[in-house]
Order: sequence, then structure tokens, then C-alpha cells
Amino acid sequence: MSSDSISITRPDDWHIHLRDATALQTTVPHTARVFGRAIVMPNLNPPVISVAEALRYRDRILLAVPEGSAFKPLMTLYLTDTLLVQEITKIKNEESVLAVKYYPAGATTNSDNGVTNIENVYPAIAKMEELGIPLLIHGEVTDTEIDIFDRERVFIESILEPLLCKYPALKIVFEHITTQDAVEFVKSQSDNVAATITIHHLLYNRNDLLAGGVRPHFYCLPILKRSIHQQALISAALSGSPKFFLGTDSAPHSRSNKETDCGCAGIYSAPAAIELYTEFFDNHGALDKLEAFASFYGADFYQLPRNKDKVSLIKSTWTMPENFMLDDSVVVPIREGQTIAWQINKD
Ligand code: NCD
Ligand code: ZN
Repeated sequence: MSSDSISITRPDDWHIHLRDATALQTTVPHTARVFGRAIVMPNLNPPVISVAEALRYRDRILLAVPEGSAFKPLMTLYLTDTLLVQEITKIKNEESVLAVKYYPAGATTNSDNGVTNIENVYPAIAKMEELGIPLLIHGEVTDTEIDIFDRERVFIESILEPLLCKYPALKIVFEHITTQDAVEFVKSQSDNVAATITIHHLLYNRNDLLAGGVRPHFYCLPILKRSIHQQALISAALSGSPKFFLGTDSAPHSRSNKETDCGCAGIYSAPAAIELYTEFFDNHGALDKLEAFASFYGADFYQLPRNKDKVSLIKSTWTMPENFMLDDSVVVPIREGQTIAWQINKD
């Protein structure tokens, strides 16, 4: 299917980092300009570990939503070794807190308070399984002896499979998957296991990060993998399977924190997220698969209503700015200074 315009049900972003304080002035408008809802990651510093804190964070986000946008942030709690079962129970009664995020300790940005041993959180997970609360997983082991390109595959064998054996009905979103192994794992599981796929893992592979020079703005976690894995993600996104849906993992860091001796992980895609997903589906002759991936399958998985209104996009080139203000610094977005083939139709 090929066309110069498309109208889809308003999409949602099922995985985003909005940060806090003045950064919200940048991140929230970028996401709220098009997405109806977004699942907001709790890896602030300190992390969001209670329902009360999640609701206060939500209020700060809402203050940054531009007028005229009906954007709804959906909040998450950060799973620590000591998160109490009572806190899980509170989530069930709170419409705008939806899920719990699992970071293995040390896996990524602000994950120092993450889980040190999965068995420590089995009581909390048992409660989540009972109440139908999704566990959102950053699926990488952190053992220093495991190669960074193998950390997702090893996580599947050593953590995810045993977890699902013990809690077979647990709702799991395997976040930002990056390997063929993850695609196959998710496909092999029943309906309670799904995955988000970022636009950068669909568009790029590790050559974009490393060949001809190190490009710190392509450094994210899980790290970009070799091309066969990228191909597996592309096939999964185009397959029309409801197990795979949109989650940008848009994760801004200041330019100085990226372009330095030990740069932070994260790619800032929010300013062009839906445009780039549209370009991607178009380039694969699969525009007819965009709407379900971006606007249906995530809502269905979370048992939320699909958005009612529509957004339309037109095939018309624009140039992404070189950077945006972020706090008192700047953030360099995906495709900075380059063209993007699709844009939102504002008429
Ligand atoms: C995220 C961040 O910066 O918060 N970084 C990233 O590379 N994706 C954390 C995460 O989701 O791993
Ligand atoms: Zn993330």
C-alpha cells in the first residue's frame, strides 16, 4: 500500500522517558502534540517508588501539557528489592497508574535502585499476576562478564523463562526489544506476553553507531545490534501480530552528557516519532499496518479503550532542527538537521 497521506486513530506511546522539572517543558509538548497517551518511565533520580509519588509526578507533567492537547500520562512504579505488596495493591485502585517497571540494578540510566535478585521481588510479582498488573521489563542482564551484545539473549534464558514458568499468567511487556531471540521468545508465549519496538531499533543497526566513527547520539540501551536482529524486528513490526506495538523509548540527555568520555545511553526521538514510524512503514510498502501497531495493539494489551479521534499525516519533507533546549543545555534529536519524509497534517 502506498499513498501520500494517511489518517489513523490517534496513536499512543507505550514507553517514554519525560524526565522532570524544566525538562518537562521540552519533552511533554513533543509527545503531547500527537500521542493520546504515554506510559511514563519511573527512572527519575530518585526513582518513583510509590503511588503517591507517581501521582505527584503526573501532576507536574500535566502542568506542561500544551493547551488544546488531551494528552494523558500513564504512570509506572519502579520495582526495587523492597517494593511492598501493599503498594502493588494500591495501583489497582488508581486509574492513572498502570504498571511496574523492572530494571535489573545497574542495567541502564538511573537503574542503581533496580532489582538485585529477581527472587527478592517474587512476592510483589505474585501480587501483580493475581491483580493483572503488567510488569514492564528492561530485559538485559548486568553481569560484567556477559558481552553487551548478548545481554538481552542471556536475560531471556536466565531470568525471563524462569519468571514465566513460576508466574505463567503474569502480564509482561518486554520493552524495547532488540534481538531475533526476543522476537522469537515473545511470539512463542501466550497473549499475556507482548513487546514494544522503538523506531531507532527498526531504522538502525550497530554499523550506524560504530562504522566509520563512534556516534554517541546512536548510543542507547539495549544497544543497537547487528543487522540480522534489525531485520527480525522489522519483520515483527510488519507482521501485524498484536504482540508487537509502538514504544519509542525516547530518552533525552543533554549534548554534553552524550558527547563525552563516558556518554549516557538514550536516543531522543519524540520530536519525530510518529513521522518516522510512518516513514518506516511506507518504505516497507506497509502503511496499512501502521495504525494497528501505533494505535490499537498497545491499548488492547493494556485493556484500555482505543483513542476515538484521528491524526493525519502527509508525505511532505521537513528538516529536523539540530537541537532543542533541555534544562539549561540542549538535546540533539534523532535525524538532527536531516530530512524526514512525513509530517503531521495540521489542516
Ligand atoms: C533510558 C534513559 O535514558 O532513561 N536510556 C536508554 O538508552 N534507553 C533508560 C532505558 O530505558 O534503558
Ligand atoms: Zn526506556
